[in-house]
Amino acid sequence: MARFEATVSAPVNIACINASCVSRNPATVLILFQCAHRYWGKRNTALILPTNSSLSVTLSQDHLRSTTTSSTSEGYEQGDRLWLNGKEEEITKGGRTEVCLAALRKWRREVEEKDSTAAKMSEWPLRIASFNNFPTAAGLASSASGLAALVYSVSQLYVLPQTPSQLSLIARQGSGSACRSLFGGFVAWEMGQRDDGADSLAVQVAERDHWPEMHALICVVSDAKKGTSSTSGMQKTVATSTLLQHRINHVVPDRMSEISRAIAAKDFNGFASITMRDSNSFHAVCLDTAPPIFYLNDVSRAIIAVVEEMNRASLASGGGLLAAYTFDAGPNAVIYALEENMPMIVSTINEFFPQTLDFPDPFNMLAAATAATSARP
Ligand code: ADP
Ligand code: DP6
Ligand code: CO
Repeated sequence: MARFEATVSAPVNIACINASCVSRNPATVLILFQCAHRYWGKRNTALILPTNSSLSVTLSQDHLRSTTTSSTSEGYEQGDRLWLNGKEEEITKGGRTEVCLAALRKWRREVEEKDSTAAKMSEWPLRIASFNNFPTAAGLASSASGLAALVYSVSQLYVLPQTPSQLSLIARQGSGSACRSLFGGFVAWEMGQRDDGADSLAVQVAERDHWPEMHALICVVSDAKKGTSSTSGMQKTVATSTLLQHRINHVVPDRMSEISRAIAAKDFNGFASITMRDSNSFHAVCLDTAPPIFYLNDVSRAIIAVVEEMNRASLASGGGLLAAYTFDAGPNAVIYALEENMPMIVSTINEFFPQTLDFPDPFNMLAAATAATSARP
């Protein structure tokens, strides 16, 4: 009985320190991807069309990632099935996973129609297993790496000819942030104008090698599942926040062009100040949501204070910004800094947030990860 299989992995926004645990080996703290300019709000919840464009950095996939294997066989029992971290997840009718799989099958059918010798995989059930080697649903963008890996894995299985940008149209419908994880380097998700979403896709703004000195450090403040998922949080913000309208109309458009310019010019000051201000703007709209959403906690705010103080001292002595913090929908911090400054940043964070022994060591978590057999980026 014919059976086909493909394994890929996609990176997320992580490398690790705990608020009470800095990475034991700062040299390996090269992070994967993290948002420099956030997506928060949908204008169409079914197609996942955002209310603003966004931009993120995919730094490396050596560390935190989702690894997904998909297989198909004419011998499988009817119905697609999905396992996440070893536990079966229901594929809900009309739900996001089903939408992605239906779109991928449609493209596979086109392959089969063009080539009559191609296996009729589009008619066979799928079996998909994915593992995250970092906390799931904890504000570390597992939906981004997870859905990107799912879409990319099935696209490899189906030998689809579509480009990463075309695949990003499908990943976007799995989880908005997932569309950006199909690329390495600096990636924009262009919100697009069309109602059918055909122009709401990810594009690479610059390759990783364009600015290799840009490093990032992830501070794992909590690995617990967050109380409010990104999906429901942003829906409540769209429904209730007046500040969101200001953000969408008067804040984001200029910042998108300014951060793209800063990346092109390798201007760390410009990049850092927009990144921090966007993070604060995003968490301000969360607070402006009714009832308010609190993703940051006291430790997150203490990290902000430490970075602000480091930057103030550097500017006061005639230097530039040293570091930029940014927080996803969760309490965990990502700190961007140029490579030359990272050892000092790590030791400062270590000093203020000494390690405790009861927190899982991120690098042991990494060692436990499933090996990827092929990967993008
Ligand atoms: P996060 O901040 O981690 O992105 P979200 O609330 O956006 O949290 O999304 C978490 C959800 O993403 C999970 O409950 C699960 O449904 C989905 N998800 C996470 N990882 C994977 C994966 N590897 N494969 C498929 N789906 C995943
Ligand atoms: C704060 O992509 O997780 O990480 O599209 O509903 O799945 P859904 O939400 P998701 O939202 C991510 C929000 C964010 C910012 C960002 O990644 O741009
Ligand atoms: Co998410």
